[in-house]
Amino acid sequence: MSDGTGRHSEDGLARRSEDGLARAGPAHRDDPRLVEEAWTRVAERYAAYWSPRFRPYLLDAVGALRPPPEGPLAVPGCGPGEEVLLLAEQFPERPIIATDPSTGMLRILWSALRDRGIGQVVASSGGAESLSAFVRQAAGVLSSFSLQLLPNPLAALADWSRALRPGGRIAALFWPRKPEDSAVGRLHEAIEKGTGERRPSWEDTALEALPRIGLRLVSDTTVAHEMVHASPEEYFDEIVRSGPLQALEMRAGRDTVERCRAAWLAAETSSARPWKHAPPARLWELERLEGFEPDHH
Ligand SMILES: C[S@@+](CC[C@H](N)C(=O)[O-])C[C@H]1O[C@@H](n2cnc3c(N)ncnc32)[C@H](O)[C@@H]1O
Repeated sequence: MSDGTGRHSEDGLARRSEDGLARAGPAHRDDPRLVEEAWTRVAERYAAYWSPRFRPYLLDAVGALRPPPEGPLAVPGCGPGEEVLLLAEQFPERPIIATDPSTGMLRILWSALRDRGIGQVVASSGGAESLSAFVRQAAGVLSSFSLQLLPNPLAALADWSRALRPGGRIAALFWPRKPEDSAVGRLHEAIEKGTGERRPSWEDTALEALPRIGLRLVSDTTVAHEMVHASPEEYFDEIVRSGPLQALEMRAGRDTVERCRAAWLAAETSSARPWKHAPPARLWELERLEGFEPDHH
């Protein structure tokens, strides 16, 4: 099954006859309904398994956001909102607008906001590429671990530029497409091998396009923190059970995921238990140029 872009989704969601999505026809990987349903399915488990492991990275990202003194802050792709809570602690006087397409993720954040009595945050359902529909004249945008998932990261950056005031800042933390020789790099290769799908790299193109979308790169760093998993098998299985490969399993089926798993485990150099690694993430600080007139559509 092809979606017309050369991507193949094998039997797609059609096999899941119990599934509401399936009744609407097979999905391709960027189908917003698939994205919403997959992330909602994994939300609780993501918050339990991945959020504590990602926390040191989120602290780096929050530390890298240096907004001008006036204006709200925004967090697209907020997931369960760990970084939103950190931001609210760091900037207690600022309104914060958080968005995510997954209702399951938002429910976790709404409940945390209620429990902690935090009133400065409004969290709403929305895609990263339409942040400017929720906020304008923002002082800062914080994005963590969602940019690399988007079908068009440059379009999202252009929209965040539109949402910012001149001099406003973005801190964007993401998993790079081609990390050096590492478990995550081998994972990307195994997925490409197991699915036949390629995700083009986007980072260099986005950096070159920054002036056209009114942004300037302030810094580009790599951050890495040790993460511990019971075994390499657990790591892979959690990416499916509670992470980004849930969407792949839903649309392409268990056999495809098993092929990716086998290819990755075969290439994995360590089978130590516990299994540890320090995956490199990329952190960009960007600034909205003064005097840039964004288009307002
Ligand atoms: C890996 S989680 C990151 C969550 C959180 N920011 C964190 O760092 O823990 C990815 C999030 O991106 C969201 N997401 C997926 N596609 C998206 C899109 N097109 N626009 C915005 N968010 C999206 C998912 O719903 C999910 O909550």
